[in-house]
Amino acid sequence: MRVLITGARGLVGYHVAEAFANVGSYIHLTSRGKSPFPDFPYTPVDLTDREAVAMLIAEARPDVVIHSAAMTMVDACQEQPAQCWMQNVTATRYLLEVLTERFPKAHFVFVSTDFVYDGFPAERRPYIEGDYEAPLSVYGASKLAAEAWVRTYPGPWAIARTALVYGYTPTLQRDNILLRVLARLRAGKDIQLFVDQIRTPTWAQDLAEGLKLLAEKRAQGIFHLAGSDIETPYGFGQKVARIWGLPEEMIQPITEKDFRSPAPRPLYSPLSIEKAQALGYQPHSIDQALRILREAL
Ligand SMILES: NC(=O)c1ccc[n+]([C@@H]2O[C@H](COP(=O)([O-])OP(=O)(O)OC[C@H]3O[C@@H](n4cnc5c(N)ncnc54)[C@H](OP(=O)(O)O)[C@@H]3O)[C@@H](O)[C@H]2O)c1
Repeated sequence: MRVLITGARGLVGYHVAEAFANVGSYIHLTSRGKSPFPDFPYTPVDLTDREAVAMLIAEARPDVVIHSAAMTMVDACQEQPAQCWMQNVTATRYLLEVLTERFPKAHFVFVSTDFVYDGFPAERRPYIEGDYEAPLSVYGASKLAAEAWVRTYPGPWAIARTALVYGYTPTLQRDNILLRVLARLRAGKDIQLFVDQIRTPTWAQDLAEGLKLLAEKRAQGIFHLAGSDIETPYGFGQKVARIWGLPEEMIQPITEKDFRSPAPRPLYSPLSIEKAQALGYQPHSIDQALRILREAL
């Protein structure tokens, strides 16, 4: 299986590359900066350049594309909507158009987000695939628009929605909730975390295994690939503090009313993972994942 992985320098893409490399798949990696894995074929490409996308696809000749590259900073997307649309929607469309022309049987697996939901499900229960999408932010809208392009792809496709991804890679470009909590508490500084955002935090390694599973099964349709525990950022931070033996009291609970960020976020967006579990997806609990991560951090 020849696998093209976009966003390979990102938190998710890096783990996806590792997951496929571990089972001996042929992997071809791309993002814009320097290669995170010198031993694997890597082509630096700005996916908003259609010609460069065509050359990348010709070079990689993929059976599977795991498309994780995106403009992921939610507030930056709100402030730079045109750039966000270009990177999240147009880039996805270019990949799909070139695949349709050149490798129409390639399985396209798109990494999406819980932010396609507005936080008001019809009943108070985790979102299931097929629930009504109504993004609140530019970022969420851009990911949903990209999903719409994916659904037009004539070849096989899967959309994997995930949430609040945490983890660590040696080449990480941006932080995540785990690294933020550790950095602040270790420096003796306090940190404010939301108590009214309900999520299913996801370990990047579990997500990567889930994406590999979708590719191996050539699964089609929408799947939620998230963690198995429902938690708030505040509750997550407390778990981190406990497992690393750092002072929990340095974590201050805040609510949406205390802190307005540029982009609105859904208050309640836990994802039901039953559909993916039926396929064999088995994420760790938050405690299990943090205990494993503690060995490296
Ligand atoms: N992190 C989360 O909590 C979360 C939650 C829900 C969904 N997701 C989704 O998961 C996916 C991966 O997220 P992540 O956390 O791994 O993101 P990340 O760490 O911010 O990495 C993003 C990657 O995308 C690449 N990229 C961005 N714009 C590009 C462009 N125009 N052309 C080529 N490459 C480009 C970056 O390349 P360079 O580093 O070379 O610039 C980087 O490798 C995204 O689709 C995101 O929407 C993430």
